[in-house]
Amino acid sequence: MHAIDLTPRVWDRILAVRDGKACACCGRFTPAERAALDLYGPVARRDLGPVTVAQIGQSLDGRVATSSGDARDVSGPEGLAHLHRLRALVDGVVIGVRTALHDHPRLTVRLCSGHDPARIVIDPQGRLPDDALLLRPGGARRVIVTASDRPRAPGVEVLRLRAVEGRLDPVQILEGLREMGLGSLLIEGGGLTITGFLEAGLLDRLQVSIAPLIIGAGPQGLTTRNPVEKLADALRPDTRVYGLGSDIVFDCGLGTRAELARRPLHERPMIRHAH
Ligand SMILES: NC(=O)c1ccc[n+]([C@@H]2O[C@H](COP(=O)([O-])OP(=O)(O)OC[C@H]3O[C@@H](n4cnc5c(N)ncnc54)[C@H](OP(=O)(O)O)[C@@H]3O)[C@@H](O)[C@H]2O)c1
Repeated sequence: MHAIDLTPRVWDRILAVRDGKACACCGRFTPAERAALDLYGPVARRDLGPVTVAQIGQSLDGRVATSSGDARDVSGPEGLAHLHRLRALVDGVVIGVRTALHDHPRLTVRLCSGHDPARIVIDPQGRLPDDALLLRPGGARRVIVTASDRPRAPGVEVLRLRAVEGRLDPVQILEGLREMGLGSLLIEGGGLTITGFLEAGLLDRLQVSIAPLIIGAGPQGLTTRNPVEKLADALRPDTRVYGLGSDIVFDCGLGTRAELARRPLHERPMIRHAH
């Protein structure tokens, strides 16, 4: 496991990497600063094309909230700071409408320096109220991905897609957002939303942050629609492990961006099919 030391100078370097003004490899850094560059560099880099990274924070028993819906805060202080750093490195943060309705998140960057990303909610039926915190004007772009005709306030952008049996195709979501200039994305949850992108083979990285608490019941992080029956068939991503102080991050590489970037989205493979 690699311990992270996120000193101001290494965070400045990571932001410079994001802006295309520096590389993530050169320079003199301590081993723990270098580990920070290794963790955030792949999300910050733009030279390999846009990145799609998902992050979920869960307990030792794999829960992301309590049964009553309390999800604030499963992650410890360093895990939360990590989430804000990821937000600062992407163009947009994507959440499902259930998270928007349960948690009332702002999706802003408050625990580190950096810009606020666009706030994107997948809301196929138009359930999100217009006075939701993340739809308030005066900050980053606000985007609703939907199949509904519900009109939205001026300034709220709507990506309208066709639903099939209530589902929006994650490939079309990603393509639509990229056409809107939102290239690199953080899929922040919840589990249903992340799983949709994971099963469509669209995640470059999946980060699972584990905090040392046991909740006992409640929603689980990831549950795929097509689980494997044999462990031999399980998805075993190339994984690096980082100690953040309060939490541990499993940083999983799911594809080679450079290789995938050469293919149109609709030709990218499903990760796993049911047998
Ligand atoms: N610990 C963490 O890191 C973390 C992060 C985020 C959320 N959470 C917790 O997770 C829970 C919510 O997660 P969740 O998995 O139940 O729900 P979710 O992923 O937040 O939202 C799922 C909903 O979003 C819409 N949606 C997402 N992708 C879609 C697609 N491809 N096509 C059509 N609709 C799509 C659907 O809305 P409709 O229902 O309208 O069809 C779906 O039911 C909450 O308790 C929250 O507190 C924890």
